[in-house]
Amino acid sequence: MSMDLPRRQFDTLVIGAGGGGLRAALQLAQADANVAVVSKVFPTRSHTVAAQGGINAALANVLPDNWHWHMYDTIKGSDYLGDQDAIEYMCRAASHLVLELEHAGVPFSRLDNGKIYQRPFGGQSQNFGGEQASRTCAAADRTGHVILHTLYQQNIRAKTHFFDEYFAIDLIRDDNGFILGALVLEIETGEPLLIEAKTTLLATGGAGQLFRTNTNAHINTGDGLAMALRAGIPLQDMEFFQFHPTGIAGRGMLITEGARGEGGYLINKDGERFMERYAPHAKDLASRDVVSRAIYTEVKEGRGCGPKADHVLLKLDHLGKAVLEKRLPGICETSRTFLHVEPAEEPIPVYPTAHYTMGGIPTNRFGQVVVPVEQGEECIPGLYAAGECACVSVHGANRLGGNSLLDIVVFGRAAGNDIIKFLQNNRYHRKIDENSVQAALDHLHRWDKKGEGESVTEIRADLQSVMEEYCGVFRTEEILQQGVEKVLEIEKRMEHVRLKDHSRIFNTARIEAMEVENLINIAVATVTSALARQESRGAHSRIDYPDRNDKQWLKHSLFFREGRRLDYKPVTLQPLSVETFPPKPRVY
Ligand code: FUM
Repeated sequence: MSMDLPRRQFDTLVIGAGGGGLRAALQLAQADANVAVVSKVFPTRSHTVAAQGGINAALANVLPDNWHWHMYDTIKGSDYLGDQDAIEYMCRAASHLVLELEHAGVPFSRLDNGKIYQRPFGGQSQNFGGEQASRTCAAADRTGHVILHTLYQQNIRAKTHFFDEYFAIDLIRDDNGFILGALVLEIETGEPLLIEAKTTLLATGGAGQLFRTNTNAHINTGDGLAMALRAGIPLQDMEFFQFHPTGIAGRGMLITEGARGEGGYLINKDGERFMERYAPHAKDLASRDVVSRAIYTEVKEGRGCGPKADHVLLKLDHLGKAVLEKRLPGICETSRTFLHVEPAEEPIPVYPTAHYTMGGIPTNRFGQVVVPVEQGEECIPGLYAAGECACVSVHGANRLGGNSLLDIVVFGRAAGNDIIKFLQNNRYHRKIDENSVQAALDHLHRWDKKGEGESVTEIRADLQSVMEEYCGVFRTEEILQQGVEKVLEIEKRMEHVRLKDHSRIFNTARIEAMEVENLINIAVATVTSALARQESRGAHSRIDYPDRNDKQWLKHSLFFREGRRLDYKPVTLQPLSVETFPPKPRVY
């Protein structure tokens, strides 16, 4: 019964210990809030650790730059679906926050003059679409690793309370709509714990495990997105999923865009540098959606490489061993380990791979979760979201490389600041809603059912294959319609899954089952939103609607779980202090 449940109380519960969660927690702990971070893995194993290429900020250390150019590139990269107020906020804050990270101990790579090293990345320009910019601050190709470790150390110093290896099951919500914390499960003991909190921040990352081939960690199962859906909160812009152009062919592991930033380029079976045909100006540093479609087209039209002609090649040998070892040691290691390819001598086989969830829990630029009401929108009291699980929306229909690490520190901090204000005005815990707690416990105990049934592992694999085949780089009405049906069939099959292992201690089968439930909830949102959007914009490429249609579709989608209903809301075209960038044709 829920009355016997162990309970803890905190001012703020942060779910997820990647960069977004840790940056928010740090802001709070430094302001003397009593903050708990719950993470299903040890914090420094969170997926931020895998970010390679860097973090964008217009420091102008290598080439002239300023935040307004960065803002323009981000809006153009988003195919005009990004909200311009949030984008201005992010690009203005970038330099300050990168220098703050430097002072917190992040060991960035250095230029000869001692300043932070910055490399060119895709979609970056000087002077609003002019020459290539050099805006991505890097620590070799291990930037996420050093940022995450630094933020973790700073949190330990600030006395943030960590619940390591605890899995969040569901949010607790009362009848007035307040979020009161969450039910979590200690993985080691299998015991549930209720964490009551005046404010809860979801920072659980993306859902790259929706797809068979992806760059994401096994843990990226979109838990926070699914928890929000189950709490009645819609997901925004889920049709936009980023495919990174250069995953290791057939396997998916990330080969950083920094490799092309350092001068690498793509070739087809004829040795042709084919990006010159698709993006004559930016070439290999066009935005990711453009490069991924180009690779896909080269392969489809018979110019792929290898015995199956199913990939293209990333050429790096001309950069020389010394540069590769200094700037890209991680990808050299990955290439040797997984392909037995030495990048200083031969090119790396690459193909697009699922990388980043552009959509997510709708938030404003203060990190507050917002939902539509008759007159505009209102906040869900006590609930915040930041990082990849949130849709603020600074990435719109396509994120620029290097803007993800920026997003997490900018909006992690912003959410922390707004939570501090909320706590000043809401000094006491609200009474817990026992019905909501019981519903979360029922969700957990569903996995106690015994008997014969399907296996979770098979369902996960089937879901990933369906998403890859029916919701990939290029889409049509017919393919997406089939995708919806197939995902709904999988959702039905999930009801008949039974676990073989009903033990408590470190029962990872039970965790995996709940993760797959979460992925299925998100898959339904993704294919349904993709089927509805009858245009091509950013990463959402419809062969049957090849053009962007600003008249009808310059709007954000909102998917509600109940009734699989879709709603829409306008894009914010008005920035905070500068003129709007009106939509125009997007060429690179
Ligand atoms: O290619 C990369 O290093 C990835 C960076 C990003 O997604 O921001």
